Amino acid sequence: MKILEEVRKIALEEIEKTGLPPRILFDVAERKTEELAEKLGADKTIALVGYCLMDLKLGKAAEEGKLEEHVEMSSQAAKEFLEKFDLDEKTKNKIINCVEAHHGAVPFACKEAEICANADVYKFIHPKAFFAFMMTLGKREMGFDEALDYAEFKLDEKYKILSLDICKKELEPFYRHLKELVRTAREF
Ligand SMILES: [Fe+2]
Repeated sequence: MKILEEVRKIALEEIEKTGLPPRILFDVAERKTEELAEKLGADKTIALVGYCLMDLKLGKAAEEGKLEEHVEMSSQAAKEFLEKFDLDEKTKNKIINCVEAHHGAVPFACKEAEICANADVYKFIHPKAFFAFMMTLGKREMGFDEALDYAEFKLDEKYKILSLDICKKELEPFYRHLKELVRTAREF
């Protein structure tokens, strides 16, 4: 359990330092990762460690203007972090797969990776996260129209990642509602 405490600590430190991912979105998807791991009988520790590591370097990548490299940067940091623990190769590989597959760049090699990727979708399609995300874009001094466009872009991007039936069932109605609300807001 020590690994979970440590990984959470470094993930929260990065959030504190860079503001990314926004804490409220991190919390929404973390809760979902835990819930899905329990419901689907996956290894909760692997899923949560993978979750905490998957966007570890998101803030740093954004600061350096290379957001699209955050998966690779997080994967590198994850490998270094995992070296400190006496884990078997299989466990380590599963955790790395959670990081590397969370945007669909590589296939899911374990249930825990699919859980992380699907939980990540909640950061943009769950109503609590969607409204919180709009607030964070406001704080980043994005105008309303630009924020709406970006939030909708994330809605569509993340919707495509959904693969677990349980998540599709929960998020599809929110996705449709939010798309409709965004369209109405834009047209007014
Ligand atoms: Fe990410």
